[in-house]
Amino acid sequence: KPLVFSGVQPTGNLHLGNYLGAIRKFVALQANNDCIYCVVDMHALTAQLVHEDMPNQTRSITAAFLAAGIDPEKHIVFNQSAVPGHAELAWIFNCVARIGWMNRMTQFKDKAGKDREQASLGLYAYPSLMAADILLYRATHVPVGDDQKQHLELTRDIAMKFNLDYMEHIRRTGYGIDITVGDEPVHAYFPMVEPLIDGPAPRVMSLRDGTKKMSKSDASDLSRINLLDDEENISKKIRKAKTDPDGLPSELAGLAGRPEADNLVGIYAALADKSKADVLSEFGGQQFSVFKPALVDLAVHVLSPITMEMRRLMADPGHIDAVLRDGSARARARADVTMKQVRDIIGFLY
Ligand code: TYM
Repeated sequence: KPLVFSGVQPTGNLHLGNYLGAIRKFVALQANNDCIYCVVDMHALTAQLVHEDMPNQTRSITAAFLAAGIDPEKHIVFNQSAVPGHAELAWIFNCVARIGWMNRMTQFKDKAGKDREQASLGLYAYPSLMAADILLYRATHVPVGDDQKQHLELTRDIAMKFNLDYMEHIRRTGYGIDITVGDEPVHAYFPMVEPLIDGPAPRVMSLRDGTKKMSKSDASDLSRINLLDDEENISKKIRKAKTDPDGLPSELAGLAGRPEADNLVGIYAALADKSKADVLSEFGGQQFSVFKPALVDLAVHVLSPITMEMRRLMADPGHIDAVLRDGSARARARADVTMKQVRDIIGFLY
């Protein structure tokens, strides 16, 4: 079975972008894959060193995973800091990755802001830890939103350089696997990960500005639908969502140059498990005064059971902690195998 890995940071409230770009896909992938889903608490230090309530933030992401339908018994749900292999492998990858590669990361440039000298070394090295998260389990498929694409390309570059630099050692230890890169056969230790970004809403945009990503850090709460929003809030935010004066087009091409319309159609399609073309064949020619109420109904129908279940789960932190403890132990057992082999490949005595 293919091995799927993905992570979500315990920072702020989860929103519709996180759900449609990531968590909804995590749920669907369980049927045919072996899945590992991680609350990446160590990554959260790069945004903010001191967190008011890290334990409950971590529990809240875990609750969202479970409420959305992830099965922590068939698959693995855990928090990153409980498995030391993430930090160990990240150090090795810091030595594999080149400064030039890191300098090209657009997310670092955005997050570091103007005064780059004051950004933490952790924020800079973030993509190397992300590569370690995935490759610690030698995962092959990674469901993420479009904003993580460049980080997954870097993950492939890191894996490739490790495989080539240690090629003789990999052969000698016998831990390698035969893969093809392009059309070339390569004897590798780490696989080349495939990003799973497709679907109708790979990048959910702000409800206030169709050219900006929906994000936890947007000052306006009207810009996003939070997973914990109630019916009334969802309805208000969609009713107030920015649109243009035209009705909905009947063809996909009619969405070009209309970012707000495109975004709402994408959200509808993702929530309904349809394509954008299907949504347009249903609503083409209609006004937003018809489409928006339909979108409210659909969003409430899909999200409110998740919201209710999240609240129920959050009332019993002991249960969530037990899920994480069990998941962390199982993740650690797998990670230990990789780290032992990596030590052998590099030549570290243990
Ligand atoms: P994070 O915590 O910022 O976001 C979690 C997931 O939500 C997706 N996402 C979106 N998708 C569509 N539209 C949006 N507006 C939107 N906003 C967020 C993100 O793409 C992500 O899939 N670096 C990662 C966490 C991470 C990770 C990993 C992911 C750490 N290690 C290993 C995969 C594999 C991040 O900061 O996601």
